[in-house]
Amino acid sequence: MHSAVTLALAFSGLLSAVSAVPLWGQLPARPTRADPHPDDIGPVDDKNYDERDQYYHGPPAKLYAEILVHGDSYTQTGFEITGDKPSLSNPLGNPPYPGWTACGSTVANWIGFVTVNYNTTKVLTYNFAYGGATIDAKLVTPYTPTVRSMTDQVNIFLSNVASKPSYAPWAPGNSIFSFFIGINDIGNSWYQSGDRGAFSDTLLNAYFALVQKIYDVGGRNFLFINVPGVDRSPLMIAQNNAESRAQEKAVIQTFNTKLAAKVASFKVTYPAINAWVYDSNTRLVQVLDNPKSFGFKDATSYGSGADQVWCNDYHISSNMEKIYAQDIANVIKGWYTGTQ
Ligand SMILES: *[C@@H]1O[C@H](CO)[C@@H](O)[C@H](O)[C@H]1NC(C)=O
Repeated sequence: MHSAVTLALAFSGLLSAVSAVPLWGQLPARPTRADPHPDDIGPVDDKNYDERDQYYHGPPAKLYAEILVHGDSYTQTGFEITGDKPSLSNPLGNPPYPGWTACGSTVANWIGFVTVNYNTTKVLTYNFAYGGATIDAKLVTPYTPTVRSMTDQVNIFLSNVASKPSYAPWAPGNSIFSFFIGINDIGNSWYQSGDRGAFSDTLLNAYFALVQKIYDVGGRNFLFINVPGVDRSPLMIAQNNAESRAQEKAVIQTFNTKLAAKVASFKVTYPAINAWVYDSNTRLVQVLDNPKSFGFKDATSYGSGADQVWCNDYHISSNMEKIYAQDIANVIKGWYTGTQ
């Protein structure tokens, strides 16, 4: 039978093979005439049947995709919903590409690359990610109270963009909702006492209550990025404590396993959705174990050089982000082109 979730493994050779697994289960018979999807703007094209939502689409609906992103500093570009909106000439809105990323104001991160470099259609990106974010500030306190948690970010989406305002006429069929969260939830809590696995369940329940809210307003395509191995960041290495690194690594692995299970069960509840998990953790480990084969000098130093995996002691460099972006673009490419 069909796998519940397309798990995007970190090996590009496997990506296409895994992504080729049908995502939508048993299909009903196709309608015999072109049946326009209610969200389509233009005339329908009877050749353009979209098996994911079982509607025919006209060309206008396929002119662009929208990606609505939630996350932390690994994703932030400094977007504010009150400023310039994403448009075909300025696909990230404010600040324009590459935005303000964790590596600086002139350096792109994965979402910038996915939006403007590795896109195979026009992509408009609403990036609600905010540096330092945790899932819910009541569960894990962020480093400073002004940080917008994922809860805050989803609320900004719900109160501004969910209603499909004229500046963002997104449709279920042309939008992907992405989540790259958990780094700070674990970074600020792994060392605490108590059952960390049970706490991961608490975090993921809060996480998926937010995903549910997005489903409820029409989100149907979901990209989940798991937690990378920040136990191997220069910050953790500098503490020179192998035992704590192993402990943090174990908490991250448990979280990631539970995340994959949560996505799989969400897909069982809503079989018509697309749900992808990008395994950022495995990819980073692969690079850190063999930095030279990816063009990096080593796994532990940091700086602004093109040959650094890390741009500072806690964030991956732009060239490492580029590897993530290529993987992620491969994961969602079939969706853009309607071949998946
Ligand atoms: C990718 O995005 C860029 C920036 O918006 C755009 O100029 C380009 O046409 C897009 N590529 C495709 C294949 O649509």
